[in-house]
Amino acid sequence: MILTVTLNAALDVTYTVDALVPNGSHRVTESFERAGGKGVNVARVLSALGLPSVVTGLAGGPTGRAIRDDLRAARLTDELVSMPGDSRRTVTVVSREDGDATVFNPSGPRVDGETWTEFTTRFTRLVRDARVVVLSGSLPPGLPTGTYGRLIRLATEAGALTVLDTGGPALLAALAARPTVIKPNATEIAEVTGHDDVVAAAAGLRTLGARSVVASRGPDGLYAVTPEGSWRATPPQRLTGNPTGAGDACVAAIAAGLLSGAAWPAVLREAVALSAAAVPCPLAGDFDAGLHAQFRTSVPVESTHAPVND
Ligand SMILES: Nc1ncnc2c1ncn2[C@@H]1O[C@H](COP(=O)(O)OP(=O)(O)OP(=O)(O)O)[C@@H](O)[C@H]1O
Ligand SMILES: [Mg+2]
Repeated sequence: MILTVTLNAALDVTYTVDALVPNGSHRVTESFERAGGKGVNVARVLSALGLPSVVTGLAGGPTGRAIRDDLRAARLTDELVSMPGDSRRTVTVVSREDGDATVFNPSGPRVDGETWTEFTTRFTRLVRDARVVVLSGSLPPGLPTGTYGRLIRLATEAGALTVLDTGGPALLAALAARPTVIKPNATEIAEVTGHDDVVAAAAGLRTLGARSVVASRGPDGLYAVTPEGSWRATPPQRLTGNPTGAGDACVAAIAAGLLSGAAWPAVLREAVALSAAAVPCPLAGDFDAGLHAQFRTSVPVESTHAPVND
């Protein structure tokens, strides 16, 4: 099974408005609430693909209960650990006019030592049955930047492969633990490397410890540097909608590829097909099954140069 970790689980609130105007008052034409946080979105995509996954992480208070109720409604296996404080509610405002999404991310409640001890005990138990562990999203207050590195080491010792999707100091500090794959977007790459050139920066992140780097570039698709070679995969068309969550669909496809042992070009084709098919869907964690089926036969994957040494 694939274990997804969401240390800062959230109730994702999505509002659709005709056009977003700063300082304006808006009529909300559609509104949704569902359990979120990146790892939860990844599990939702995996479940739609028919792949077994387990959701762990931290949630607390009345919002935490709403998150867990929604996980149950979505038939996702809930192994979240309860914590003091109330989980965060993230707000995404999707503008119909231009298809842009504006996201508000509260930092979430502080994690105390007792909760963390309970979580590591739970994680150590769950990871024994996991072939792939997905670690996604920001770290909540109270956890040190080395947190993902510690979890990656525990997962690796248990024989699992790891996919890390985070940014900033949490990403940088985790690289020495040698995650199997990292999936930064262009902004996260620029933040941690100081490079705007994704191609040069992705190779640099491998030298810092990541075994493979799959850099996502929004409508320009993916650039991957792996021990088997480097590739570029491009969406067949630029789509409008809510691109928030496209990265999570991409991570779900990478985790599914690690689980099945597929070759990199096939994994990247699927990652672009699935993530592009997520863009027209208003809610993170959803994808358009028809577009997914269409794109998986039409995503070009181009080898960029010879294999690089590990
Ligand atoms: N407008 C778009 N049209 C087509 N495909 C897209 C578009 N935006 C994103 N994608 C697809 O989704 C993938 C991930 O997008 P992006 O780089 O924006 O991820 P991200 O910033 O990590 O997203 P998230 O908000 O989920 O964290 C891209 O590599 C691409 O395949
Ligand atoms: Mg992302």
